[in-house]
Amino acid sequence: MEDKETFVKSSLNGKRVVLIGGTSGFGLATAKAAAADNAGLVVVSSRQSSVDKALRALPDGTEGYVVDITDEQGVDELFKKIGEFDHLIFSAGETLQIGNLADANIADSRKFFNVRYWGALMAVKYGSPYIRKGGSIILTNGIVGIRPWKGWSVAASIAGAVESLTKGLAIDLAPIRVNAVCAGMVKTDLWNNIPEADREAMYNEVGSKLLTGRVGEAEDIAEAYIFLMKGNYTTGQVIVVDGGNVLV
Ligand SMILES: NC(=O)c1ccc[n+]([C@@H]2O[C@H](COP(=O)([O-])OP(=O)(O)OC[C@H]3O[C@@H](n4cnc5c(N)ncnc54)[C@H](OP(=O)(O)O)[C@@H]3O)[C@@H](O)[C@H]2O)c1
Repeated sequence: MEDKETFVKSSLNGKRVVLIGGTSGFGLATAKAAAADNAGLVVVSSRQSSVDKALRALPDGTEGYVVDITDEQGVDELFKKIGEFDHLIFSAGETLQIGNLADANIADSRKFFNVRYWGALMAVKYGSPYIRKGGSIILTNGIVGIRPWKGWSVAASIAGAVESLTKGLAIDLAPIRVNAVCAGMVKTDLWNNIPEADREAMYNEVGSKLLTGRVGEAEDIAEAYIFLMKGNYTTGQVIVVDGGNVLV
């Protein structure tokens, strides 16, 4: 009987999910999956055009806000406007310029922490007081932190920071559960800075070496966010969803 009650509580039916970066890629796919489970949605990103586009793809009643997650005052005001909710998903991120350390511009390298690390920290700082009992937070990471490629030192260090942040927050904010999803290569708009033919060639080349024989789709990653929202005994964990990339 007790098990059954716990199971019912872990449904997303009637829960309110706030997705920072919810207008594209992992966030949008997770919003669609959560909507299919009858969750209420709030999607947030920095451009009005992305928010409008996402709202057209999501059920009526979905709320959308435009906020640059690096703007502390804007983040504070955002959560005051949103009010109480159940789950916070943070998947905001922009394209990283990678390259040899010798060529790295330190000021630019510092800026790469702004969205993924400081943005995540600010979203959690200002959002967590509004999370209802039984709620959770899910951050987003990449496998470059586990297995860096040549030229990716800065990106790897952001991922290391986000992993440690996840664990620290799980302790700081308990009983709110805090986890992260750590993805391998996934076909999303994040890669749109690469010309289409080169991009497809990259997906094929990387995919052919993976245990799954293909790179991920955003829907593959969304499953992990849904699991972590519902899995009310999981906290402080980083779940790797990468087609086996770290093994090959
Ligand atoms: N795709 C992959 O292969 C992959 C693999 C591993 C890790 N990741 C990481 O996972 C995260 C999500 O990736 P994705 O593929 O879903 O990327 P995406 O499709 O490009 O989505 C990124 C989202 O972040 C929002 N965003 C960007 N800057 C923002 C800001 N300053 N304030 C608020 N929102 C902002 C974007 O909307 P606006 O443009 O409207 O702001 C968009 O909604 C990123 O951190 C990425 O590095 C991705």
